[in-house]
Amino acid sequence: DFAGQTVLLTAGPTVEDADPARFISNRSTGRMGAALAKIAARRGARVIFVHGPMSWPVPQAPAIRAIAVRSAEEMCNAVLAEIPHASVAILCAAVADYTPVAYSREKIKKGTAATFSLQLKRTPDILATVGALDQKPFLVGFAAETQDLTANAAAKLRQKHCDMLCANDITEPGCGFAVPTNRLTVLFADGRREDLPLLAKEEVAAKVLDLVRREMNSSQ
Ligand code: CTP
Repeated sequence: DFAGQTVLLTAGPTVEDADPARFISNRSTGRMGAALAKIAARRGARVIFVHGPMSWPVPQAPAIRAIAVRSAEEMCNAVLAEIPHASVAILCAAVADYTPVAYSREKIKKGTAATFSLQLKRTPDILATVGALDQKPFLVGFAAETQDLTANAAAKLRQKHCDMLCANDITEPGCGFAVPTNRLTVLFADGRREDLPLLAKEEVAAKVLDLVRREMNSSQ
């Protein structure tokens, strides 16, 4: 049911380098994005899989074109280059919100001070950038929350101009990073919501794609 569609996915963490030895990143493995890529390809889509350094295998299939990036800025550039080809974009990467202001080419020495501060600057918000495009694909965001899930997720959906937003509480057992399952609350731009049960990430991916298909059909 995705034949003829090109699905652009982002997945995994981004890595923001501070010096040749150190970086800032997060606990994302890329498993949810990998599941979405695999199921979308199985259902007939061409998949553009833009991913940060993953600790889960990058999915391999003839219909999947993987583009490896490292930082949020690189991920943003790759997504903006590919977005004109996409009819659907599902951005589930755990993109770093901040990156070091400067990269030190030499290893930063610890010196004698008891505390150390690293100055950070904002990265581009990829989902919001795509949401602001005139010509945009059917746009799905994700939200990782630890409190006020529905209110925070609804604000992200609105502010980033998504058609659909999949929210999960990363403190809930069986949800979030480095676990095989997830439980999503899916919000739609017109205020509807659907609560999915706790499922294996591949089953979650299938449900998300079912909802994307249904919403795209109903808006045609
Ligand atoms: N996202 C993105 N670019 C960023 C930050 C986030 O594209 N620089 C996307 C994520 O891929 C996800 C959505 O925005 O689809 C929400 O990400 P999340 O980390 O939950 O929220 P933030 O917008 O970063 O807000 P906060 O960290 O304040 O909760």
